[in-house]
Amino acid sequence: MTAKKKILLLPGDGIGPEITAAARKVMDWFQSTGRTNFEVSEDLIGGVSYDTHGTPLTDAALKRAQEADAVLMASVGGHKWDVLPFADRPERGLLRLRKGLGVFANLRPAVVFDVLANASTLKPEVVKDLDIMIVRELLGGVYFGEPRGIETLPNGERRGINTQVYTTSEIVRVARVAFELARKRKKKLCSVEKANVMESGVLWREEVTKLHAEYKDVELVHMYADNCAMQLVRNPKQFDVIVSDNLFGDLLSDLASMLPGSLGMLPSASLGARDASGRQSAFYEPIHGSAPDIAGKGIANPLAMILSYGMMLRYSFDMAANADLLETAVKNVLRAGVRTADIVEKGQTPVSTAAMGEAVIKELARLAA
Ligand code: IPM
Ligand code: MG
Repeated sequence: MTAKKKILLLPGDGIGPEITAAARKVMDWFQSTGRTNFEVSEDLIGGVSYDTHGTPLTDAALKRAQEADAVLMASVGGHKWDVLPFADRPERGLLRLRKGLGVFANLRPAVVFDVLANASTLKPEVVKDLDIMIVRELLGGVYFGEPRGIETLPNGERRGINTQVYTTSEIVRVARVAFELARKRKKKLCSVEKANVMESGVLWREEVTKLHAEYKDVELVHMYADNCAMQLVRNPKQFDVIVSDNLFGDLLSDLASMLPGSLGMLPSASLGARDASGRQSAFYEPIHGSAPDIAGKGIANPLAMILSYGMMLRYSFDMAANADLLETAVKNVLRAGVRTADIVEKGQTPVSTAAMGEAVIKELARLAA
């Protein structure tokens, strides 16, 4: 018998524990019906880890994450910890975890569920049937570049420094993931930088163009990041897969996540390289943050977290049938008018986080019967 696959759950801060509880029940349903056979454990990350251990990610938690077959995190951060020095902030725990897992490609889909086309602030016809995948580079660029810091100059003035830096291999490995994805989708890739003002952007464009020789079946366009932001709002359906660096990818994926109307719907997957034995580090998380303003009220939307688990089933465990089942259940629940406060429409009464989770489980059971 092969060893049980290990999943590490990291509820984190803010609404994290609430949406994790809802997702965990969905995971339990898959276990109890024999569809999965995982060993699930939990650990701390972010502000709660800082409060308990004095660090946003302990070495032990990182080791557990590295040993797991997949990691599912909810969210980190909150105003309470904003006063801490950089190294102790919840966000540092997340960055350390990404780095420690080697997950360089962050897949952030923006998909508009047909029943939610009205939830978007854009006109329904602009977003209807939208299906974009943003591939964000996650381990390089200005987030990690050296030199960095804040220094005081001889004249007493202070200077803050961050460095945008990319090497060939960093660009090529993430671009390859994007080309491969495009190949399985509508075969269109848009590569985004600011080659008009940044050398790292010039290099990015050159390397992506070179790699294109291996993916001639994919149509490649290049776009400046500012123009891409504008185009995403003007005519988002022109895009299929977008690949960009860490910072532009962060901004553009937040922008794209609003096209469907609520951040609360969107999962993401972060993948590393596959080793010789076929093992690949993988990290799943909702795109949304810890939403401290609504934390503890039991009203957060757990669907991004639940769908992140769905992405895990699909990408880490090759369980397409289970992932499809889960996505169908979520669609049906929305179609039936079950809505949390963030996606509620006129005439609907919002349900709680827990009730949304229960509705998904009930629908899973109905579909599976
Ligand atoms: C994200 C977040 C993080 C990032 C923060 C919390 C460090 O904005 O996952 O998009 O900037 O990467
Ligand atoms: Mg972000």
